[in-house]
Parts: sequence; structure tokens; C-alpha cells
Amino acid sequence: MPSVLFDPDHRLWLLRGPTTAYAVRLAEDDSVRHVHWGAPLTLGQAAELAERISPAASSFEAVADVDELAVEGGARFGPPSLLVRFADGTRGVEWRYAGHDIDDDGGHLRIHLDDRHYPLRVTLNYRVHAGSDVIERWTLVENRDEHDPVAVLRLDSAAWAAPHRTRYRMSHLVGGWNSEFQLRRTDVPVAETVLTSRRGMTSHHANPWLAVDDGTAVEEHGEVWSTALAWSGSWRVTLHRDPVGRVTWTGGFGHEGLTWSLAPGETLETPVFAGLYTANGFGAASRAWHAYVREHVLSHPDETHPVLYNSWEATGFDVDEAGQMALAARAARLGVELFVMDDGWFGARTSERAGLGDWTPNSDRFPSGLGPLVAEVRRLGMRFGIWVEPESVNPDSDLYRAHPDWVLHMANRGRTEMRNQLVLNLARPDAAEWTHAWLDRLVGEYGVDFLKWDANRPFTEAGWPGHGDPDRLWIEHTRAVYQIMDRLRADHPGLRIEACAGGGGRADLGVLARTDQVWISDNTDPVDRIGIQHGFSQLYPAHVMSAWVTDSPNVATARRTPLRFRFHVAMAGVLGIGGDLTAWTEQELKESAELVAAYKRVRPVVQHGRQHRLRGDGTLTAVQYTRDDDHVVLAWCPTRAFGHDPAPLRLAAVQPEATYLDLDTGATYPGAVLLHSGLPLDLPPGDHASTLVRLRKAG
Ligand code: DGJ
Repeated sequence: MPSVLFDPDHRLWLLRGPTTAYAVRLAEDDSVRHVHWGAPLTLGQAAELAERISPAASSFEAVADVDELAVEGGARFGPPSLLVRFADGTRGVEWRYAGHDIDDDGGHLRIHLDDRHYPLRVTLNYRVHAGSDVIERWTLVENRDEHDPVAVLRLDSAAWAAPHRTRYRMSHLVGGWNSEFQLRRTDVPVAETVLTSRRGMTSHHANPWLAVDDGTAVEEHGEVWSTALAWSGSWRVTLHRDPVGRVTWTGGFGHEGLTWSLAPGETLETPVFAGLYTANGFGAASRAWHAYVREHVLSHPDETHPVLYNSWEATGFDVDEAGQMALAARAARLGVELFVMDDGWFGARTSERAGLGDWTPNSDRFPSGLGPLVAEVRRLGMRFGIWVEPESVNPDSDLYRAHPDWVLHMANRGRTEMRNQLVLNLARPDAAEWTHAWLDRLVGEYGVDFLKWDANRPFTEAGWPGHGDPDRLWIEHTRAVYQIMDRLRADHPGLRIEACAGGGGRADLGVLARTDQVWISDNTDPVDRIGIQHGFSQLYPAHVMSAWVTDSPNVATARRTPLRFRFHVAMAGVLGIGGDLTAWTEQELKESAELVAAYKRVRPVVQHGRQHRLRGDGTLTAVQYTRDDDHVVLAWCPTRAFGHDPAPLRLAAVQPEATYLDLDTGATYPGAVLLHSGLPLDLPPGDHASTLVRLRKAG
């Protein structure tokens, strides 16, 4: 059954997923109007809905229906998705329908629209994948004029609309360095609300995901409309709510004030802004997003990610061959499978003040290059990974001395330094080519298995002197990063990449299409991490969530926590270890080895299973992962008010009539009891208590 249907009489298209329908129609003026996004509808039902054109609220409003891609033009006063200015000064667009096509597999609809006067072609793209309710949308603009450029003042990927409800609430992710992915739920104000990054990077401060509901949705009940933008540079999403009417939101790459010039014959294509409707709460929405990420975003979804060791918290910039080998020896004893050397291995990079950009091993620290360390890591049975920050440069570096014009800068403006760094303008083909070349050499020479691709610096003074369309760099830099990653991966098929930007400043569906996992925060305190991981899990699966066990007291918070608690929190994603193992006692190393082994037993379920966030009530937070007959429960109790034990934990996704065996204790539980009464939790007394339970359906 094709996913896209067309009704020519009503000029109506219907997209269908397993539990969702999305409908749009052509209005009399040939603009594409929103009809429906929600529960399944037949084409006939959608046609009936399309006939119910909302009357304008008053003579002060002309357009009551919602545009799929609002433009400036006519009596439209909401936030536009597309803003253009032609060479003669005319702004806005008046549409003429120019046809549509649907791919042979039935999942990709393109609606072509021309301006009635100017040779401008816009194509609205909609794609649904078999078995998924996610609708991918993006826009292509083509300047078909033979002589004149067109100024593009805004080009969003898509505008979305929730149906009429009496209340609207939004869920979104906020934060900062060390406090990423904090989930906030708040009523959508009668106003325009902007979620954005102006940093040239996805940002720690907002993530390009949001969910809208009518204020009644909870974890496992209620309708949720959520969207996510697949872009790793600056972005903007504007929600719009009038005193009457519905909530709409438009989003895409770039922030306000950027202008792009489309030369004659040139096209500009946006990233995907994906949308998902789910009827069963925030949990179902997250599971559907996780499945989408696995099936349609990641390149290696079936791979189980290795337990890694990362040297950053252990050594800072104090990196050398002997120190790394000592850490590697201990890491191997614990069962680590991938050893990652972090910052400080190259050039004059003995602190954050110098050397960034000079990507040859520091000869004092690695007198024979990286060869001996790589060989030792492999001898110990581990893969080798290395930290890079390809987009940044210290002014005190040979690279900057040779190419001061390669950084983002503007005439007559200072060059603001943050972390003593500037940003390379990878929109420049020469800078991008040079960057690809050294990365390719590094990966090729040492057979690097894993790159931690960091980016610790937002854009400032983002100019490109001498370039005719300098704001293009906000798009082209990000595209160049994507191209370099794609090329490296194509040429080195075994290479895996971790996305990082000073912690979780670059987590999005765009970067995940060319990386394997994300470092989600430099904050490794397990108590803080519970909240950070909770926010991250709204959109992203555990399979891409890199999480380390580090030292106690924690370097960021000074909080002391037991080793077992730190492990149990990090086991909720892709386990890593980031502590100074040379300072860990024999007892700690022994316990860690046991906990790594325990993780390896559960990781196929954690990394590839379906996730249920069971509880998060301040006292107890618990997550369940389910794969076939196996269930893994991780529960964390950071504080124990009054010394009370938390109530038994009611599980999800178990069958009432089946019996479940605890693989570690041998206890058995009827499914009905697990569902309705709960799993008794055998937590140690006191604060920072945690447990890991493995259950298997026994019959
Ligand atoms: C920021 C990253 O998030 C850290 O893990 C570490 O790699 C440092 N950069 C190194 O400079």
C-alpha cells in the first residue's frame, strides 16, 4: 500500500504511517495548506476535512488556514518560513502550482510551486519510510532566473501545526556547558516563542527538538506532536500561538538576520525537519524516535558499541606515551575494548593556550610518534581512538601563523577568543581540503578505529572577507564538516566517530547520520547525569549515548558517590570509563572489572532494545530496556528521604500471563505482578543506591 495518496478532485495529498496520517491540500491561490496531522484517516475522511476551510476570524485576518510553508505575501502576518527579495526589490511570493511527483516506492512526495511572476521554483518534500510514523520534510529553492540573483532572507525546512486544542504545552531541552538536555515543560504562551542557536553549532543551550501536547499527556498516555531538525549549525524554530487558533511552528537552519544570495540557476536545499505524531505519551514518542534514528539515521545501527576508556579526566593536557600506556594497561584489565587518547597529544598542545591546528604528535611526549602507543593498545587487545578538534585553531599555532585568513573573521573587527581559540572557516574549500587531508593521514597512518570529534568554540565575527555572499559560511561550514566526516568514513570503512562539542553541544539528527555516538556532557557526576540522560533520551536512543564512570569526588561537583552507582548510571547508555585508573585501588579495579562484565551481559538489550522510562519521581529514577524475551532494569536512588525504601517498581512491556526469571538471583515473578504491583527492588541502604536487574521471560 503506497504511503502517499493523491485526490485530484480535492487537490489533496495524504501521507500515511502505521498509526498516523498527514494531509495537505492546495488552496484556491495555489498555496499548500495544512489539513491534518494525527490519527489515521482515509483519503475520503481527509477530503471531508479539507472542505472545512476555517473562516477568517475577522476582517483583520485574511488567511485562517495554516500554510505548509508560510511566505510573506497577502494578508499573512505570522512568522514566515520563506522570505525572499527579488532584484527589483519586490518581496514575498505568489504561488502557482507546478505539479507534483511521488517516487516509485510511494514514500516521497514532491510538490512543486512557482512564483506567478518571477522565475523561482520551490519544492516541498515529504518522505515517509515504511513502518515509521516519522514524516521527513525539507524544502528546495531554485532561482531559475538567467540574470539576477534572489536574496533569501529565511528558508525553513517546514512548518508544522498541532490541531485545535484548548490548551497547548511544549516540552523542550535547555541547558549550558555541564548541564545539557534539561527537560522543560511549559504552556505555549500567546506569543512567538523562539528556540534557537546563533552559535554556528547545535548548542548546549537548546536542542532542535520539541514536543507539543494539550497539557494532559504523560509518559505512557496522551497525544504528542514532536519535531526534530537534522542540522548541526545555527538553527531557529519559531512557535506561534494566537489568542484564537492553533499552535504552529516553523524551523530550519540559520538564525535571524542571515541573508543568502541565490545566483542565477542556483539551488538551496534545507536539512530535514522531521515530525512525529504519537497517541501514547512521551514514552511512545521517544521509542518511535529511537526506532527512526536506528532505522533511518545511523549508518551502523546493528553494531554493539564497545566499552571505551577516555583519558581526559585522568590526565587533562598532561599526556605522554608512558602515562597513556599505564592507563591502557589498567583499562585492558577492566575489560575495556577501545582506548581513546584525548586532547594534548599533538603540536605544542600542553595546555589550552597553544598548538591547536598542529596535528603532528608532540615529539617530547611521543618521541617515536604514536606508533608505539597504538601497538601497545592493540597488543592489549583494544581498539585505538583519538581526540581531534578539526574546526578550531589556537592563534599560537603554526597553522594560524601560516593561514591567519583561514579563520572566521571580519574586516575592522576584533577576533574574539574563547578558550584561546578561533574557528576555522571550513566553508573555504582550501581550509576544508587541508583539514580532510590531515585527518585522512592520521586515520590511515595509525589505522585509527575511532575519532572523538570535538568542537569547543562557537562562531564569533563570522565573516568571510572578499566573499560575495559571506553569510553562506553558516551553511557551508556545517556542510563541510559533514562532507569531511562522510569522506573519511567512506575511505576508512572501519572508522567510528563520536560527536562532541565541549560536552553535548552537538547532538542532533544531522550529526548522527555520520557519527556513531555522542558525548552528551562534560558533567560526569552520576546524580546530575540522571537528569541529563533523561532529557537526552527524549529523542536519542541509548545506543548513541556515551557515558563514563569517573573518579569520586567528581571533578565538576565534588560529590562523592559509590563506584557501583557511577557504573549503574553509565550503563544506561554506551559504557565508558574516564577516571584516573592509576589511582584506583585493587579493590576498585576488581569491582570495576565485575561491573564491566555485568554491562557486557546486558548491553545488547540496553543498546538495541526498546526503552521505557519507568519512573523519575525525585527519589527513584528507573529505566527498562526490552529486547525479545530479555528485560534490563536500571534503578537509581540518589537520596533516601527519611530512609524510606522506594515502592516496588511497576514494569512495562511484560506479558501478564508469562513468568519472568531474575537471571542473577533465580527469583521468578508473574508478569501480572510485575505490571500491577511491581518488582521489589533490593537496594542497598542510604543515598546513591542503585540496582541492575536482568529478567527473562521463562514461560
Ligand atoms: C571538551 C570535551 O567535552 C572533553 O571531553 C575533552 O575532550 C576536552 N574538550 C578536551 O579539550
